[in-house]
Amino acid sequence: MRIDVVTIFPEYLEPLNVSLVGKARARGQLDVHLHDLRQWTTDIHRTVDDTPYGGGPGMVMKPEPWGAALDSVLAAGPEGEVPTLVVPTPSGRPFTQELAQDLASRSWLAFAPARYEGIDRRVIEEAATRMPVVEASIGDYVLAGGEVAVLVMVEAIARLLPGVLGNAESHRDDSFAPGAMADLLEGPVYTKPAEWRGREVPEILLSGHHGKIAQWRREQAFARTLAHRPDLVARWPRDAFTKKEREALSVLGLAWDDSAGRFRSAVEPVEE
Ligand code: ADE
Repeated sequence: MRIDVVTIFPEYLEPLNVSLVGKARARGQLDVHLHDLRQWTTDIHRTVDDTPYGGGPGMVMKPEPWGAALDSVLAAGPEGEVPTLVVPTPSGRPFTQELAQDLASRSWLAFAPARYEGIDRRVIEEAATRMPVVEASIGDYVLAGGEVAVLVMVEAIARLLPGVLGNAESHRDDSFAPGAMADLLEGPVYTKPAEWRGREVPEILLSGHHGKIAQWRREQAFARTLAHRPDLVARWPRDAFTKKEREALSVLGLAWDDSAGRFRSAVEPVEE
């Protein structure tokens, strides 16, 4: 996969040389090109921002450098191909595991992380006439710029590329992994020693009984999802559970509510 990133802080993306992504680059699985947006400025101060039309606080990134940068990225890539342009922004669609999977299936991504209040809208609109554009947010908070979001997205995408993770199985059990049930958080994990500071590893994990271990892990995942992400519980389909699992859900106080069309906790207040 080829990845281009245009930014005013190329040094912010140094972590792309480290660990999983760094190794994928060294192995030639990821071909990353960083570009300094200021190389496409034309004034002595190398200006990339200006005051917003209509007034208001902050500055807006000027269209000319971004336009020239995207032209140049397009021209430098494989003949006849266009990248998918990913624009990190808190007003984008949520960057989910599903979106990561989708982007991992593409051969070329270009990232346009903004600073200040964002990029002049016309840049995004004009780019969309030439290539697919995805505006994505990594969460409901505002960063000082999109570079960290690029790191997050590239890491989530890179680990899905064939051959990047050592063990091909290792993303099968991820939280949010698509499959039997995507909306489930992974439960706790343990390693040696079996006792540490007086705390023991749950006995079931030492039992060697794979069926019971799988069942226990599933129950832990249910409990954790209920505690941390009740919004995900509300998305669980009615028929995704075995009889044993339904019992485990009922121990957690969860039962299917026909009128609500979702699993509901007995302690949850009934909405009017
Ligand atoms: N830029 C600033 N905040 C962001 C966010 N939450 N997600 C993606 N890009 C951003």
